[in-house]
Amino acid sequence: MQRSWLTRALHTLLALAVTHQLLVSLVMEEPEEGEAEGLLFELHETVGLVTLGILLAFWLWALVRRSETPLGALFPWLSPGRLRELAADIGRHLAALARLHLPEYRPASPLAAAIHGLGLLAVTGSALSGLTWWLGEEGLVAHALAEAAEEVHELFGNLVWAYLVGHAGMAVLHRLAGHDEISAMFSLRPGGR
Ligand code: HEM
Ligand code: HEM
Repeated sequence: MQRSWLTRALHTLLALAVTHQLLVSLVMEEPEEGEAEGLLFELHETVGLVTLGILLAFWLWALVRRSETPLGALFPWLSPGRLRELAADIGRHLAALARLHLPEYRPASPLAAAIHGLGLLAVTGSALSGLTWWLGEEGLVAHALAEAAEEVHELFGNLVWAYLVGHAGMAVLHRLAGHDEISAMFSLRPGGR
């Protein structure tokens, strides 16, 4: 599928920012009560807030863009027609896997789009729960809400890890099978591939 320059640019920024957040979370240390924040911890907060901005731009663009993946394909859950297409695509994937074949790459696959939508939701939940925790630290939301947000942030963090590994892993498998969507998705030339 031909994707617009803005979709590719926002996706590249998002992939870099989210990967940064996950990697930094592995090495940063949460400060004890009354202790100053470490550099890596501050970096996670700052890039986390930037990620929220990139996500907002991605959502707004996904709402208004034309002739690319529609929002209805990213979130097919409430449309009987889209759910039927999704079920048929899942069947196609299972049939290929049963023959020990990598499912054939299809642009605009309903299953791939639905999973991209879930990934977008997981990353958005992660950034919003991080923001809520941060607002709590700044005294702008109730302490109890900020504590709950911290738990939710951990949960979403695990979901985002799972998404990134699965999503990037599928992209690499398709690349090895001869469909180089990675170069297409990360190309920042105006016309794209
Ligand atoms: C966690 C960070 C990431 C998020 C949230 C994310 C999200 C998405 C979304 C929402 C799409 C669909 C875009 C659209 O249809 O407009 C997409 C497509 C794609 N992403 Fe990512 N992505 C991430 C990281 C990566 C990484 C690291 C790679 C490469 C290894 C990658 C490779 C691709 C490719 C190749 C496609 C096109 C797939 C297709 O044509 O079906 N993404 N990604
Ligand atoms: C999409 C963006 C983000 C991702 C993917 C992300 C990911 C993560 C992950 C994986 C952890 C480790 C959780 C664990 O201990 O198991 C973490 C911890 C943390 N993050 Fe984020 N984060 C994001 C945005 C933010 C933002 C915007 C803030 C605040 C401004 C923030 C603040 C924190 C804090 C304070 C912790 C340590 C507390 C804890 O253990 O839960 N994060 N983050």
